[in-house]
This record gives sequence, C-alpha cells and structure tokens, in this order.
Amino acid sequence: MRPLTFTRPKPVLNVAGKPIIVHAIETLQAAGITEIGIVVSDVTRPAVQQATEDLPGVTLEFLEQSEMLGLGHAVLMGREWVGEDDVCVYLGDNLFQNGVGAYVDLFVRERPSAVIGLVEVENPRAFGVAELDGQRIVRLVEKPQNPPSNLAVAGVYCFSSRIFDQLASLKPSARGEYEITDAIQGLIDDGQTVLGQTVEGWWKDTGQPRDLIEANHLLLERLEDARLGTVEDSRLTGPVALAATARVTNCKIVGPAMIGEGVVIENAYIGPFTSIGAGSVIRNSEVEHSVIEQECVIEDVETRLQDCLIGLRAVVRGGRRIPKTLKLTLSDASIVELT
Ligand code: G1P
Repeated sequence: MRPLTFTRPKPVLNVAGKPIIVHAIETLQAAGITEIGIVVSDVTRPAVQQATEDLPGVTLEFLEQSEMLGLGHAVLMGREWVGEDDVCVYLGDNLFQNGVGAYVDLFVRERPSAVIGLVEVENPRAFGVAELDGQRIVRLVEKPQNPPSNLAVAGVYCFSSRIFDQLASLKPSARGEYEITDAIQGLIDDGQTVLGQTVEGWWKDTGQPRDLIEANHLLLERLEDARLGTVEDSRLTGPVALAATARVTNCKIVGPAMIGEGVVIENAYIGPFTSIGAGSVIRNSEVEHSVIEQECVIEDVETRLQDCLIGLRAVVRGGRRIPKTLKLTLSDASIVELT
C-alpha cells in the first residue's frame, strides 16, 4: 500500500468516504456485534483510535500487539478480553458486500468450534485454502504450493474460546509467522467441528493501491442520491452524495460520486466512481474513478485524472492536455506540478 501507508496505517485510508476500519466496524455492527476489540501496534494506535472515535452504538477496546508476529499472534492478544465468550475475528482490510451476518448466524445455530468464510478465487496460492467434506473443513493450509481447492479463507472467522488454547501452542510457520490457519487446523486435528460458509456477493481484500480504487467502485455502486450541498450552474446525473457544506459551481458531475463536507468544486468534471474527501478543492480539472482524500487541491490540471489515489492534503496543479489521462498514486502531502 505504499506510498500511502508511509504516513498512515492502511485501516485509516478512505474508501467511499470512510476509513476502511469504519466500514469493518459497521459490518460487524450490522451482524449484531457491538463489542469490538481492535488489534493495534503502538505505531498504528493513535491513527486508528482517531479514525474510530465517537462511532455510535459500539464499544471499542484497543488490544496492543507489541511485535508483528502474524495473524495468529494478533488474535491471541485478545485472549483476556474475550475470556470464555465466543469471538468473531474480522480482518480489518476486508470488505464483504453482504456483510458477515451469515457466518455469525451459522455459528450461533450450529455451535461448532469455528465457522470460516470461504471464497472461490483464481489464485488460491496467495491465501489460506480449505478442503471441504460437505460443509465441514477437513484441512486448511496457508499459501499452499499445491492448493487442494480454489476455496480461499476470506477475512472472517467465528470461534468458540477454544481457539485460544490452539493459538497459545502455535509454532512459527515457514514465513516466520504465527498463522491463524495453523490454529484452526489444530482444532480440526483435535476432532472439533469447523464449518466453511461460502461468501455470497463480492469480497475484497484491500492489499494494493488498485484494490482501494476497486473497493471504492464496489461500495459506490450502492450509493444513494443525496444532494444536500449547494449546486450552481451545474449538471449532476446519477447518484451523487453531496455533503451539506459542499459547493459545486459550473460543473458536470456523473455519479456515483461522493463529495464530502466543505468540498469546493468549480469548472470541473467529476466522473463516476469518485470519492472526494472533506475540505478538498477541485478547480478547472477533470477527475474520475478515483479516491481523493481530505483537504487536497487539484487545480488547472487539463489532463483527466483517472484511477488515482490522492493522499491527504496532496496538491496536483497545472499541465497540458497531453497525455489524455494521468493515473497518480500520491501519498499524503505530495505536491505535483505539471509544467
Ligand atoms: C491472511 C490469512 C489467509 C487469508 C487472507 C485473507 O493472509 O493468513 O489465510 O486467506 O488473510 O485476506 P495475509 O493477508 O496475512 O497474507
């Protein structure tokens, strides 16, 4: 995710107007889970805490992991906090079109030791991979050379507190990490029931910059029209979420587009699947299919900006209409002057 993650941890990068971690919390909340422990490091903690403060209806606990020893280790950090309860583990950079209610419901109904979200993928070698017998998972391997199936472990797991004994007895894997996958295999080896539940609808693991653009696209597909801000001499089509204090003058905007509080857009074209963060200014420019973070300035850029990720307070200015489009991935506070 560099360069964006040079200045901020991935969970606080925005897609469709909200930090990824906030989408994750809302997904859990929609599944009825309101007590949420977030595993952070001392480095990521301040940004994650700031991005999640004042969220209504949830109680957040920050669980500090002092060394980055893998997912299994991260989950183990929640042992005391979870106690004897059941727990749903959600990888904070994953997005599910239909949320995680189906996994939680199956877990509550069947009371197995674990329910794992599974998704068919083209490149199973990049994931944890499951071998199924009916709905039961009989084997689970992390990043296998010879995948037993094309069913990857998606980023949602429901566990009984038994998982913590497995996590506590893990040995590091070949890549030197304590793997949650190995802990689940431990449950299976102990004769416990581990069920797989296939993901319905889209699923997105945001591992690379282009994944953020795609996630933004997928999330904006369900955007509802809400034009609260000021519109002067402009043509808006498709769903546009225009925040109350945003102002659009002499523009063409083709939704779905999300425009945050205090945004000023003048003499500009904003194309579909674009999110513009609060306080940004776009003037005499064209932007589409992009995520523009907060307080950016895009001014007099004659080349259309397309598929761009523009970090907080970045500035892009100037240039001629050659080439036709520009694709930029800019970290926070970057300055690009096209002369
Ligand atoms: C992790 C898990 C893997 C799972 C993937 C889903 O991999 O170890 O089993 O399939 O998340 O996003 P990582 O992203 O740490 O490579």
